[in-house]
Amino acid sequence: MAKVTFQGVIKRYNDRDPHPVVAVDKMNLVVEDREFMVIVGPSGCGKSTTLRMIAGLEDVSEGSITFDHKEMNLMPPGDRGIAMVFQNYALYPHLSVYKNMAFGLNLLKLPKEKIDRRVQDAAQILGISDLLDRKPAQLSGGQRQRVALGRAIARKPKVFLLDEPLSNLDAKLRSSMRIEISKLHTRLGTTMIYVTHDQTEAMTMGDRITVMNKGKIMQIADPLTLYNQPANMFVAGFIGNPPMNFLHGKIESRFDALCFIEESLSDTRLVIPLNDHLAQQASPFRDQAIVFGIRPEGIRVKDNTLVSPHIQPAEALVEVVEPMGHEFYIYLSSGAQSFIARSRRALRYSVNEPIPIFFDLDQAHLFDPKTEAVL
Ligand SMILES: Nc1ncnc2c1ncn2[C@@H]1O[C@H](COP(=O)(O)OP(=O)(O)O)[C@@H](O)[C@H]1O
Ligand SMILES: [Mg+2]
Repeated sequence: MAKVTFQGVIKRYNDRDPHPVVAVDKMNLVVEDREFMVIVGPSGCGKSTTLRMIAGLEDVSEGSITFDHKEMNLMPPGDRGIAMVFQNYALYPHLSVYKNMAFGLNLLKLPKEKIDRRVQDAAQILGISDLLDRKPAQLSGGQRQRVALGRAIARKPKVFLLDEPLSNLDAKLRSSMRIEISKLHTRLGTTMIYVTHDQTEAMTMGDRITVMNKGKIMQIADPLTLYNQPANMFVAGFIGNPPMNFLHGKIESRFDALCFIEESLSDTRLVIPLNDHLAQQASPFRDQAIVFGIRPEGIRVKDNTLVSPHIQPAEALVEVVEPMGHEFYIYLSSGAQSFIARSRRALRYSVNEPIPIFFDLDQAHLFDPKTEAVL
């Protein structure tokens, strides 16, 4: 078990090139002992590079990575006490499942009986004891990924690294493996660092989540904090599905209240009177550009319970309604602005019919469009 600390870590590829690729930029991160940390972000943001530096498969250009208090920068991969699971399983095709799982242990020169016990134990945990004589080609994708996990478990690593391990599996298997990996973490009590581009995986699996974009950390927090208190527009837009709606506009005084005035190119403009909390945040930004962010569940469609004499509903046109079973996604437009609402109730509508909408301001966020940070 180990705590993993990044201090000012920079990774440049093609360092001698006049324009090196900065894959990871000044990363500061502490993964606590026994924690399940998910690193999430779009393709190319530096997730695999981060994991590979922990594993020792890539050098660190600047800064340091420590396990507990021991610096790892120059430690060979085999001496770090890590195990890594990859998206493509990386099994040896000519070796049986048993030999694949024993391979790393043979390299460690452990006694034969000990190797056997560890392989059998790992196989039992993952329910693959009856597959030990098979070759990888005789296994399904899900079984291969179990073997890859088993091989990692058998090493009894201090730090378990997983790089998009479920990406090659179909949707149903992916959600059941998600639960299995979470259970595995509870059972093993090992520090796990799990990389994915999938925000659902991140939200459901992580004790905490590190959101990355373009080599930089955007926010580190537990799942609900990321969802409810995003630090910036990137996190707000990346976490949550359907994503948060962003309306561009400015802050002005109207009807004795501070209002957000949407600035679309058309004549129809949404005017949203702010509540005290948002008005306080917005008051230094009077007459300045601002972004109003609201999650789909914060937009209420034809919900009479929210009507108050002070708040006039805005109007929007219904474009499409997607039934999802337990809820509906309602695609709306107002002037040049499009947004999505989600509703529990079926909605009787005609396409292009104007309907009243209400914004639940407790679920709204204001952002500075220059810095993209929350106000
Ligand atoms: N070996 C390499 N040489 C040069 N550039 C690389 C190399 N590996 C990755 N990169 C670049 O570094 C950035 C981060 O890549 P990576 O860590 O693989 O991202 P992710 O895993 O988040 O998709 C990308 O711009 C990628 O093109
Ligand atoms: Mg990757």
